[in-house]
Amino acid sequence: MQRRDFLKTCAVSATLVAGGVVFLNDARAADLSVTMYKKALLVDGMGRPLWFDTITPDVPFMFNYPFAATPNFLLFLDLPVKPMDYTTSEGSKYKAPGGIGKGKNLVAYSAICPHQWSYPTKDFTVVNYYGKKDQGCSQGVQLIKCCAHLSIFDTKICGKKIDGPAENHMAMIVLEADEAKKEIYAVGVAGKNQYTEFFDLNKQELRKEYGSSANAKAEVEKASVIRLEKYSKNIIKC
Ligand code: FES
Repeated sequence: MQRRDFLKTCAVSATLVAGGVVFLNDARAADLSVTMYKKALLVDGMGRPLWFDTITPDVPFMFNYPFAATPNFLLFLDLPVKPMDYTTSEGSKYKAPGGIGKGKNLVAYSAICPHQWSYPTKDFTVVNYYGKKDQGCSQGVQLIKCCAHLSIFDTKICGKKIDGPAENHMAMIVLEADEAKKEIYAVGVAGKNQYTEFFDLNKQELRKEYGSSANAKAEVEKASVIRLEKYSKNIIKC
């Protein structure tokens, strides 16, 4: 179903490639495991490589990765997001990678809630980003909140759970940016792996939407990035 490698060693956080600088999340520079999947280029709605200067700040964008049916938020924040050392509910330690780019402020999070796997569908989403203009969260702004059972995660501190019943932080997507090519890639996932539960729980819906389980589980090589309001018809906030 999936090709996974475990990255245990590391690299420096900025590597020269073909004359340009490749910015890596700092997870790639740490001696901690990150689950690596097929590298996927992030592209806009026209199929052009996405670059920092084309991403609207503080607006939730969506892309599916590492599988065709697994959604993530892409967020361009106004402050650097530092890497964090976290531990899953099962006791596995991992490095949440923080932001990439010159400002270390481009981050991506799984949009599958780690409590009971609510996620944004084409029809609606109760898992949402609450930006700086949002007054919907008494706990602050730049948060991801799941209205299914009110778990809240802070996008400024690597998806840390700050309230609610979820036992894990939001998983982060490991990103890379190639300065020479002006391309951004998703390359892996840091945090509790929840894809088995997600696919088991949503088997029927995903088969209906993607034609088969195999299609839903196909690894992504090019990920289209679109605004949340185009990804989900109804954005339900709480
Ligand atoms: S499914 Fe998100 S809080 Fe329960």
